[in-house]
Amino acid sequence: MRLMNTEGLAEVARGLTPLGKGILAADESSGTIQKRFDTIGIESTEASRQAYRELLFTAPGTERYISGVILFDETIKQGTQDGVLFPQLLTQKGVKPGIKVDQGLESFGEYGEKVTKGLEGLPAKLAEYKFLGAVFTKWRAVINIGNGAPTDAAIAKNAEGLAKYAAFSQEAGLVPIVEPEVLMDGDHSIKMCREVSLAILTAVFTALKDNDVDLSGMLLKPSMVLPGKNSPDHASDEEIARQTVKVLLATVPQSVPGIVFLSGGQNPQEATRRLNAMNRMFGDTVPWQLSFSYGRALQEPVLQAWKGKPENVAAAQAAFLKRAWLNSSARFGMYKPGMEK
Ligand code: 13P
Repeated sequence: MRLMNTEGLAEVARGLTPLGKGILAADESSGTIQKRFDTIGIESTEASRQAYRELLFTAPGTERYISGVILFDETIKQGTQDGVLFPQLLTQKGVKPGIKVDQGLESFGEYGEKVTKGLEGLPAKLAEYKFLGAVFTKWRAVINIGNGAPTDAAIAKNAEGLAKYAAFSQEAGLVPIVEPEVLMDGDHSIKMCREVSLAILTAVFTALKDNDVDLSGMLLKPSMVLPGKNSPDHASDEEIARQTVKVLLATVPQSVPGIVFLSGGQNPQEATRRLNAMNRMFGDTVPWQLSFSYGRALQEPVLQAWKGKPENVAAAQAAFLKRAWLNSSARFGMYKPGMEK
């Protein structure tokens, strides 16, 4: 057994998933944030990234709905124009700062698969992030479907990476968010997504156990069980909710305090509706909190309102507050599409 402050970790994990609140993923790497800024025609520079993150983190009232924010390496070292570092600003608002600690993806094998980089030198990085104010971390692994993928080898390798990362993170006193994302890309059926999700989550929890990870001091960040983006299948929100919760009940031990979904390319309304369906149908019976850790599904309307212009900051912050409120309502199963107006 390793020496860990298990009660402290569990308290932070629970503090990230109180009823009515979820996480903002604002940990886009420099490459990814450029893609997001391309949608509104602005250039990604250190100044534009700082301005955008300041807009998000200072948005008035969002702390009512947002429990934590995942930052990127550059962002955790940045601050407001007035000189308040972002981790301190968030902490003062009662929002927990977290940090993406993986180093992105590299190719694996012959079937277009990927594994996640970043284990080398990780303990030293974790100590630095803790010093900078982070209380939790995130590591993303991706599993793709189609053309022979996923292979057992890629599933095993990604599960092992997630578990080793989680063990390092807990040793450093930081709550790990374990993110195995099954990509929506492709024309696969919802049944195929269900089978692949079962396989990766089974492998992940076996690896977490093998690495002595304390399940009460971590969160799981999975994708929902969905048909591929180009699939001819259509699945209702209720069907997605049923299939997703069924897979989670089969794989996720009840000692995990919370499940915080990624949005993964669903549009903002879809991501909210489906989280709502899960909480409405199963919220009272599942052993974990069913919450969100959305990137695109929280930020798309904000970027569209902002467009890189200082005069649009207030409107962009209002768009963020609205999306955060709608997802907060979905945490109670109380969201209605009419609330979008
Ligand atoms: P999306 O919600 O845009 O999928 O982002 C969540 C995330 O953190 C991906 O790693």
